[in-house]
Amino acid sequence: MPNVIELPQTNQLLGLYSIIRDKNTRRGDFVFYSDRIIRLLVEEGLNQLPVEATTIITPTNQSYQGVKFLGKICGVSIVRAGESMEQGLRDCCRSVRIGKILIQRDEETALPKLFYSKLPDDINDRYVFLLDPMLATGGSAMMAVEVLLSRGVKQERIFFLNLLASPEGIDAFYKKYPKIKIITGGIDEKLDEQRYIVPGLGDFGDRYYCI
Ligand code: PRP
Ligand code: URA
Ligand code: MG
Repeated sequence: MPNVIELPQTNQLLGLYSIIRDKNTRRGDFVFYSDRIIRLLVEEGLNQLPVEATTIITPTNQSYQGVKFLGKICGVSIVRAGESMEQGLRDCCRSVRIGKILIQRDEETALPKLFYSKLPDDINDRYVFLLDPMLATGGSAMMAVEVLLSRGVKQERIFFLNLLASPEGIDAFYKKYPKIKIITGGIDEKLDEQRYIVPGLGDFGDRYYCI
C-alpha cells in the first residue's frame, strides 16, 4: 500500500516486539519496551515532515548546508491507549501541543463510539500525528479522522502512528483516506472473530495501564 510506512524489521525491532507480544511479559517491561517502539515511530513520523534548506556556521567557521523543519505539528491521541504515545512525542518535540479524542470500541460489536474531543484551536494549520497503538478494524481511527477533517485538517497533513496494524484495517483506512500516511511498527496476519489483531499482543490499553 502506498500509504503505509512500515518500520524496518530489524533484529532490534523484532526483539522489542517479541517482548511485548509475549503473554508472560509483565506490565513494567511491557511499558518500557513499548515506549522504545513508540520512540522509533515518532522519529519516523518526523522523517516524513517537509524541510527547507538552511545554511549554518559550525564552530570551525565553516558553512554547512543543512535543513530545518517547515510547519508546526501537534499530537492527537485516541484515549485511552493512544495516550501511551504522548510521552514519546514530547520527548522528541518539546512543548508540543496535544489534543485528545475519546473513542471506545464496543466490546461486543467492535464498533467505535465517540464520547469527547478537545483539540488545539489552530489544528487546521498543523501537521497532525494521530496516536493509537492498534489499527484493528480501523473503525476507531477513521472516526478520529472524521473529527480532524471536520476541524479543517487536510488528509495530507495527517500521519497515523501505530504499533500494530491488521491488513483489514489498512485496507479500510486506505479506501477511505488514501492520502493519509500510516506509520506502523508491524503488519500482522489478520483479525480474529472478536476483531482482535492476530497474532497481535492482546489489549494494548489493558497491558500498558492495568494488568
Ligand atoms: C483499542 C485501540 C484502538 C481500537 C482499535 O481501543 O486502542 O483505539 O481499540 O480497534 P479498531 O481499529 O477495531 O477500532 P479500545 O476501544 O479497546 O479502548 P482503550 O484505548 O481504552 O483500550
Ligand atoms: N484493541 C487492542 O488493544 N488490541 C487489538 O488487537 C484490537 C483492538
Ligand atoms: Mg481506544
